[in-house]
Amino acid sequence: MKIMSVVGARPQFVKLAPIAHACARANVEHIIVHTGQHYDPMLSDAFFADLNIPAPDEHLGVGSGSHGVQTGAMLAAMDEIILKHQPDWVLVYGDTNSTTAAALSAVKLHFPIAHLEAGLRSFNREMPEEINRIVTDHCADLLLAPTEVAAKHLENEGLAPRTVVVGDVMTDVLMETKAKLADAKSPIMEEFGFAAGSYSLATIHRPANTDTKEQLEAVLDSLGAVDHPVVILAHPRLVAKAAEHGIEIARGNLHLHAPLAYPDLLASAMSARGIITDSGGLQKEAFLLRVPCTTVRPQTEWVETVECGWNVLVNAGTQLVEAAQRPMPPATDYAPYGDGKAADRVVAELIANTR
Ligand code: UD1
Repeated sequence: MKIMSVVGARPQFVKLAPIAHACARANVEHIIVHTGQHYDPMLSDAFFADLNIPAPDEHLGVGSGSHGVQTGAMLAAMDEIILKHQPDWVLVYGDTNSTTAAALSAVKLHFPIAHLEAGLRSFNREMPEEINRIVTDHCADLLLAPTEVAAKHLENEGLAPRTVVVGDVMTDVLMETKAKLADAKSPIMEEFGFAAGSYSLATIHRPANTDTKEQLEAVLDSLGAVDHPVVILAHPRLVAKAAEHGIEIARGNLHLHAPLAYPDLLASAMSARGIITDSGGLQKEAFLLRVPCTTVRPQTEWVETVECGWNVLVNAGTQLVEAAQRPMPPATDYAPYGDGKAADRVVAELIANTR
C-alpha cells in the first residue's frame, strides 16, 4: 500500500507529522510531496526538523503567486508526480491551494483521494479556503472528518456515504509535543522578560485582515490598545502587506516578533494570558491548551471552541480590545477534537478502503 501525502503550507506540515509517524507504525509506504507554497525556512523546514518528518520525496517549488498562477503551477506539476508514483491514495490536507491542486489532479487521473480535515465550513464564500474545502470534499473518495459537526456538513451536501469521523490530527501532534516540552520555558517570556500569564500572543495573516490598509491599521491599532503586552508572530504575508501599505506593525502595547517553530509556539502559548488570531489551527490549539482565544473573523470553522466559551469572534476595535482583556472562562473537560489518536485511525481507514 502506498499513500502519497501532498502538503505545501505551514499548517499542513503540522498535520503531516502524525500521519508520517502513523504510516511508519503501520509499515505503509508513504511518499511526501511538498508543493513549495511555503518556502521560508521558519514556515517550512523548521517543521520537518522539529516534528521529525522525513524529507519530502518530491518538491514542486511553486512558490508564491496569485491564486490562479499558484494553483495552476501545482496542478500542472502534480499530474506527472502522481503518474510516476502510482499511489493507492492521494492524501490531501485542510484547505489551502496545495490541497485543491492535488485533489483536482488526482481526480482527473482517476486516483483515489482522501481528504483530511474534511467537512469544515465557515459558510463565507469570500474566503479562498472555503472554496478550496468545498471543491476538495466533492473531488474526494474518502472524507476524513475531524468532528461530528464537520460530518454533518458533509451529510448536508450528500457526502455522508464517503464520510468517516476520525478525530483531529492536530490534537495528536499537540498532545505529543506538549508531553515532550515538560516545563520548557517560553521563548517569548525569555526574550521580552515577561512573566507567565502577563502577555498575549497574536497572529494575523488572512487576506480579509491584511489586504486593505484601513482594515490592517484597525486590527493593529486594536492589538496595540490592549492593556497588556501583545506579541505578534508576523507571517510573511503580514510583513509584505504592511510594507505595501507603508505602515509599521509595532505600536502601543504591540510588539513584533518573527514566526516561531512549533514547539516554541506551544511553549509560548501555554504561558500566555490569551491568544488573538485569525488562524484556524491556533484557535483550536488555544482551546486544547486552555488559553482564552479571541478570533478576528466573522465566522469560525471550529464552532465547538466558541460554543464552550473559550473562543470569541470579534471585529477590530473595542470588541477586540475588550475580548482580549476578558477573564478566564470556567474550566471544562469538553473534548470535541478526539483523543490524540486520529492519525492511526486515518491510516487504518486508508488500508481498509484500498481498492
Ligand atoms: C496559506 C493558506 C491559508 C493558511 C496559511 C497558513 C491558501 C489559499 N491559503 O495562506 O489557508 O492559513 O497558508 O500560513 O492556500 N510568503 C512568503 N514566504 C512563504 C510563503 C508566503 O514570503 O514561505 C508571502 C508571499 O508574499 C505570499 C504571501 O505570503 O504571496 C501569501 O502566501 P500564500 O501561500 O499565498 O498564502 P498564505 O497567506 O500563507
